[in-house]
Amino acid sequence: MNPPPLLTVEQHILEQQRRRHPHATGEFSWLLSGITLACKVISAQVRRAGLLDVLGSVGQVNVQGEAVQKLDVLANRALLHCLGSRGNVAVMASEENAEPLVAERDRALGRYVVIFDPLDGSSNIDVNVSVGTIFSILRREPDPECRRPPLDDVLQPGYRQVAAGYVVYGSSTVLVYTTGDGVTGFTLDPSIGAFIISHPSIRMPSCGSIYSVNEANAETFPEGYQRFLGHLRSGRTGRTYSSRYVGSLVADFHRTLLKGGIFLYPPTRQHPSGKLRLLYEANPIAFIAEQAGGLATDGMNRILDLQPTALHQRTPLVVGSREEVELLRSFL
Ligand code: AHG
Ligand code: MN
Ligand code: MN
Repeated sequence: MNPPPLLTVEQHILEQQRRRHPHATGEFSWLLSGITLACKVISAQVRRAGLLDVLGSVGQVNVQGEAVQKLDVLANRALLHCLGSRGNVAVMASEENAEPLVAERDRALGRYVVIFDPLDGSSNIDVNVSVGTIFSILRREPDPECRRPPLDDVLQPGYRQVAAGYVVYGSSTVLVYTTGDGVTGFTLDPSIGAFIISHPSIRMPSCGSIYSVNEANAETFPEGYQRFLGHLRSGRTGRTYSSRYVGSLVADFHRTLLKGGIFLYPPTRQHPSGKLRLLYEANPIAFIAEQAGGLATDGMNRILDLQPTALHQRTPLVVGSREEVELLRSFL
């Protein structure tokens, strides 16, 4: 196979910008390059985690009530540092920070809000299983008087995202993103430190043969989910399904995006509103899924239509091929 053209993600962003926003000032591409820089830093730390004393927890509990892993903190710092100095990001919100952070220098004129899960799948770090970073970019009106509470800029429904993406630190480091004009994937070439295009236009298959769910919670799923999973296992769909569950949303979704099928995190006894967070897990993943031809719901409603009311609010998430997501809805 011929090697992919040496098209870097920065060049791709500029081309997207020229094609879709010809009068854009390039500040959007400058922002995205801040994210890709941070993800290269995180990738380098993830790849040497066993050697850098970044394994294990820092002995603190975050706003989610979860033990904070050292790599969570390092990844968060990398993103805050790389984005905070871009000059066009007014507000940043992270899974690791209870409240949104304002870049004071850019609060008046900054045009963007970036919300992120700096390290997704933290429980997998110490056992060398794929983890990821997820980001969501929203626009915000300038606030010359600096009066608007930063949360007002953050609590926007997912259909207002101007871009979303993730990086999966797996057998290779792959960046997948959309600006609303399809989904593109890039693989980090560590020998030159650049994300090179490897998946020019990703389309999710209209149906698949893999379902992805934490089976340990199955007894406490709402009854419609249990009947749906039984239906997939029964073969009555005409397809034989396999079950695959990594426990890192980014890894489970990346497989679903490329191979089709369905990922579910339903309501459970422990998480009656679902475990995954709307703003920095479900929304960016949903934007990418829809742009690739898939669907993303909370079981019944389109994720991107949900109006957030809190930064860390959770939602059930069902995302994947059109056929399976619609079939699940018929069971609910
Ligand atoms: P995070 O590490 O950012 O807290 O995310 C973990 C999430 C998500 O990555 C994954 O899909 C889910 O937790 C797995 O939850 P269970 O272990 O309850 O299945
Ligand atoms: Mn996460
Ligand atoms: Mn996380």
